Amino acid sequence: MGNQRIRVGIVFGGRSGEHEVSLSSAQGIIRAVDENKYEVVPIGITKDGRWIAGGDPMQKLRAEAGQSEALTSSSERAPTEASDPLLAPLEPRRAPFTTPHSPLDLDVVFPVLHGPFGEDGTVQGLFELAGIPYVGAGVTASAVGMDKAVMKDVIQAHGLPTLDYRVVKRATWEADPDGVMAEIEAGLPYPVFTKPANLGSSVGISKCRDRTELHAGLTEAARFDRKVLAERGVNGREIEVSVLGNDDPIASVPGEIVPSREFYSYAAKYLDDASELLIPAPLSAEGTAQVQELAIAAYTAIDCAGMARCDFLLDRDGGELYFNELNTIPGFTPISMYPKLWKASGIPYSELIDRLIQLALERHADKQRSKTSFDVSEAK
Ligand SMILES: Nc1ncnc2c1ncn2[C@@H]1O[C@H](COP(=O)(O)OP(=O)(O)O)[C@@H](O)[C@H]1O
Ligand SMILES: [Mg+2]
Repeated sequence: MGNQRIRVGIVFGGRSGEHEVSLSSAQGIIRAVDENKYEVVPIGITKDGRWIAGGDPMQKLRAEAGQSEALTSSSERAPTEASDPLLAPLEPRRAPFTTPHSPLDLDVVFPVLHGPFGEDGTVQGLFELAGIPYVGAGVTASAVGMDKAVMKDVIQAHGLPTLDYRVVKRATWEADPDGVMAEIEAGLPYPVFTKPANLGSSVGISKCRDRTELHAGLTEAARFDRKVLAERGVNGREIEVSVLGNDDPIASVPGEIVPSREFYSYAAKYLDDASELLIPAPLSAEGTAQVQELAIAAYTAIDCAGMARCDFLLDRDGGELYFNELNTIPGFTPISMYPKLWKASGIPYSELIDRLIQLALERHADKQRSKTSFDVSEAK
């Protein structure tokens, strides 16, 4: 069988604040890949953007990160990293997909990169240019999924329920803070959540109960992005659904997160280890069907492919369900929500990886069918 195995490049690490999470996700995938069917080629990206292929990139990145380093220490780094303007290939004049001796010759790539430069369409664009099939969402869906403002615009345009929000440019905020706050207050009741448009892991997010907190929240969010959101806050249950597929996506059983803090903040996600996962989420049969339907509708609205975890807020007070966000490369360790929901829905971890790789190959083949040139003689 040896030579006929499919060569899968697993790309991990990267320049986002979620570098360490990526290493854990990739480690899980590398351990679980069906070795009879796939040959794994590990490819690491350092925090400063260098691509490492050959040898043991996982070991190298772990050494660079300081193996014992907990996720906690990345909290302050997360934002600054993302702004380092670097794309460093292996060597000058060599694409990241070649080693010093030979091309990597990959059949498919699995980008296991969370956050900016991995989940936002940038690395997907590189794979498109290289003509390599890759797991997960394409360039557009990745970019839309990463930008909370554009994502909500698209979701709303499709008639799906989201919480009311305002988008503020940093320049506007800095030029006229009082005007911005007056406009937000006129449209949204407190509490208001403020967040950077392009980030994750709850970095830069605040719950604001009055004007003083709104000022602090907008200032904080504007440190991380040139575009920030102010959103109506609800006392919400956090419901998540895993979606899998290309043109006919399927939804898993929903799960629920019970955060250890007032909301699902960075500390609740990574520092406490006390947030609870309920699988399946305690919902009625109709409630379950409703979130699954909405998850697939949101996935389809942004033209997603491969996978995404769709997150909702279920208002404890009014009972309404709101779409909150969609993660196109969700945490992927065996104990992360995305794979756990599939496991509970009858798709074990190894099979999930297999399906995702097959979906990548199918999507690539489907795209190949599209004509890339137009002959004038065909013009009618
Ligand atoms: N409008 C809102 N109402 C209530 N809670 C919110 C709202 N927006 C965000 N949150 C809380 O903040 C957390 C992180 O926000 P989210 O938009 O999911 O950003 P991230 O991409 O960083 O996860 C949510 O899981 C939730 O606990
Ligand atoms: Mg979230």
